[in-house]
Amino acid sequence: IRTQVGIVGAGPAGLMLSHLLARVGIDSVAVDLRSRREIEETHRAGILEQGSVELLVESGVSDRVLRDGHEHAGIDLAFGGGSHRIDFHGLTGAATQLYPQTDVFIDLADARKRDGGDVRFGVRDVEVVDFTSDSPGMRFTDADGRAQEVRCDYLVGADGSRSACRYAVPETARRQYFREYPFAWFGILAEAPPSAPELIYNHSERGFALISQRTETLQRMYFQCDPDTDVADWSDDRIWEELQSRLGANGYTLHEGPITSKTVLPFRSFVQEPMRHGRMLLAGDAAHTVPPTGAKGLNLALADVRVLAEELERAITKSDPQTLDDYTVRALSRVWRAQHFSYWMTTMLHRLPDATDFDVRRQVGELETISSSAAGSTFLAEGYTGWPNS
Ligand code: DHB
Repeated sequence: IRTQVGIVGAGPAGLMLSHLLARVGIDSVAVDLRSRREIEETHRAGILEQGSVELLVESGVSDRVLRDGHEHAGIDLAFGGGSHRIDFHGLTGAATQLYPQTDVFIDLADARKRDGGDVRFGVRDVEVVDFTSDSPGMRFTDADGRAQEVRCDYLVGADGSRSACRYAVPETARRQYFREYPFAWFGILAEAPPSAPELIYNHSERGFALISQRTETLQRMYFQCDPDTDVADWSDDRIWEELQSRLGANGYTLHEGPITSKTVLPFRSFVQEPMRHGRMLLAGDAAHTVPPTGAKGLNLALADVRVLAEELERAITKSDPQTLDDYTVRALSRVWRAQHFSYWMTTMLHRLPDATDFDVRRQVGELETISSSAAGSTFLAEGYTGWPNS
């Protein structure tokens, strides 16, 4: 099989790239180890930056995000016994959209199907080869058990946080930056009416909790937990008690209902530099992971591929692979800003296992400064709704 761009990974990053390339006449083949159904059924975050919404709508993926999503023009920061709204729209003119990542994936997969894109789910044994040559390739076994080889001009690793492409880069050609956190999130879906119209980022002495929403009858919530937590130890009653206690400290009462999903989410910060090796480029979680606080993961992946599509178009139409060096530079500037934002939101709101009373009060002081200062609130609002494109 011959194509211009071979894409490993057909999640939102890989599919959006394939879609953007098709719009400028560049063809691609995207493969994924997972089935379409498996990806659709993995719950992920639900907040889109304004720029992510614009990318979906303006590139003709779908306007479903505008119909079925919910505009969120602010968040509540809850701490110190009360709560304070950060008015994104008033402070920056921008807003976010509550629209689950799984729906973004469905819209992209449908758009690729509609436009005749070559996307292969459920393949096995993907291997990237010859990526420092002029004709890199990917080999895999397709869903019917046949061995396949794709040859292309450029390869893209958009294969997520456990990326094989990332590890195909020789150790001497890459730098990896890590940060671990001594906690995780316990995430639930609950069949209940919403407890608030917008998201609540809740600081408390018992730890962080986040109240998010999905629909009028389904809610998404998270609370900080130990990374070794076993979901089997947490009955619905115990979960509601913990959430009510954390939110109650700041004056909220949650609407309860049957819990239909319980998962523990890992928590870490990671970046691999550079985001290019030879003719292979990394995008999205394959190159970087952020902790979930602030919902930057999907947004950052979409920002990567927006830049990558532009740089690949230049490289292919001008036959100059050197233009691709700009990809790493442009993408990493946003990546590190998002790393800081996610780290900052995380450390401001979570309780460290060895936190002293001083630490907890200092966090409340910081939250007080952010929410009472126009400069502080605007800083948060700009990061949350998304910085301008590079
Ligand atoms: C959601 C997840 C996040 O990590 C976040 O910061 C906000 C919302 C969500 O799943 O709705």
